[in-house]
Amino acid sequence: MKKNINIAVIGCSGMAKGHMKGVVENEGATLYAICDKYEELVEEAKKEFGAVKGTTDYMELAADPNVDAVILVVPDKLHLPMTKAFLEAGKAVLCEKPMALTVAECEEMMRIEKETGGFLMIGQVCRFTPAFRKAKELISEGKIGELCFVESEYAHCYEKSRGRDDWRVDPDRHGFIGGGCHAVDLLRWIAGNPSEVYAHANHKLMPDWPVNDTSIAIYKFPNDVMGKVFVSIGCRRNYTMRSVFYGTKGTIICDNTSDSMQLFVDDGVDSDSYKTAEIIPIDVNNHNVGSEIKMFLDALIGGKESPLSSVEGASTVAVCAASVEAAKLGRPVGIVYPKA
Ligand SMILES: NC(=O)c1ccc[n+]([C@@H]2O[C@H](COP(=O)([O-])OP(=O)(O)OC[C@H]3O[C@@H](n4cnc5c(N)ncnc54)[C@H](O)[C@@H]3O)[C@@H](O)[C@H]2O)c1
Repeated sequence: MKKNINIAVIGCSGMAKGHMKGVVENEGATLYAICDKYEELVEEAKKEFGAVKGTTDYMELAADPNVDAVILVVPDKLHLPMTKAFLEAGKAVLCEKPMALTVAECEEMMRIEKETGGFLMIGQVCRFTPAFRKAKELISEGKIGELCFVESEYAHCYEKSRGRDDWRVDPDRHGFIGGGCHAVDLLRWIAGNPSEVYAHANHKLMPDWPVNDTSIAIYKFPNDVMGKVFVSIGCRRNYTMRSVFYGTKGTIICDNTSDSMQLFVDDGVDSDSYKTAEIIPIDVNNHNVGSEIKMFLDALIGGKESPLSSVEGASTVAVCAASVEAAKLGRPVGIVYPKA
């Protein structure tokens, strides 16, 4: 691969602008093009970030030989058709989470990736969130011993986050998949692939929303680890992904919006040692797309495999979809994972 990657960002929302900033701040990349359905958004973002080209037609960028890679920051239902168009045109793709809204769509994306020999990375950004990276590091070092219970949550209110043209208000877009994929992906990254889920859901906070707004899911993770994910798209509180990791020697409490995290450790000497938390300062960088883009670029420039692969993205969607299904059926559901 060449040493400088020409990137096109599709979508011009606030989140997309985070990606544009991530591109211009990373070495080895040029923000070559910007695209959105709405011309005024393209013009505004072009002015702000200085892209060479702007268009309202993404197919124009698929046909442009100057585009090496694209970042898709568009409604979830467009992830499959846009990934298809760009992979078939030989462009590398970084696609926002969730990879897609169904396992079947994810499998179709994986099939196209294989057929074209293309490069597809999924933007599960929590793997780049400083607090969660620190938690994973501490767990890997054995600081809290062996894991026994892990929990995370996606507590949000979508009243003002309906998406342009209300695309989030869609019976096919369950909050557990669209937003809950963050919490599920975090637990998968830390504790592995759960084999079974049992769940409940209700519809009290956003009664006009077309699907249940609040869910709780319980998982069986490998090595006899238990897990829980709470997802709500209607809570009256600030957005958070409060997460707790319980181990045989200690506990970590952290989230993605606080400037510190707590570490409780039993030092094996003082019987009260674990009752006082060590407060670890944390850089609050919830949407750390700059690091995500750096990893994307490093892999492209170094000729490496996708660092956050389609199998990873699809496995997270598989867990989320099984959780929605379990709540509907009112019984435990075995989780089937897509194969590479
Ligand atoms: N990683 C995260 O934490 C995070 C946060 C927010 C959103 N997202 C994801 O990013 C994606 C976009 O979400 P958003 O919040 O930016 O939504 P948004 O509604 O704010 O923006 C979507 C943009 O896509 C544009 N668009 C729609 N159809 C298009 C088309 N055919 N061609 C070009 N542009 C088109 C819209 O005009 C709009 O400007 C979603 O997949 C969402 O799940 C991820």
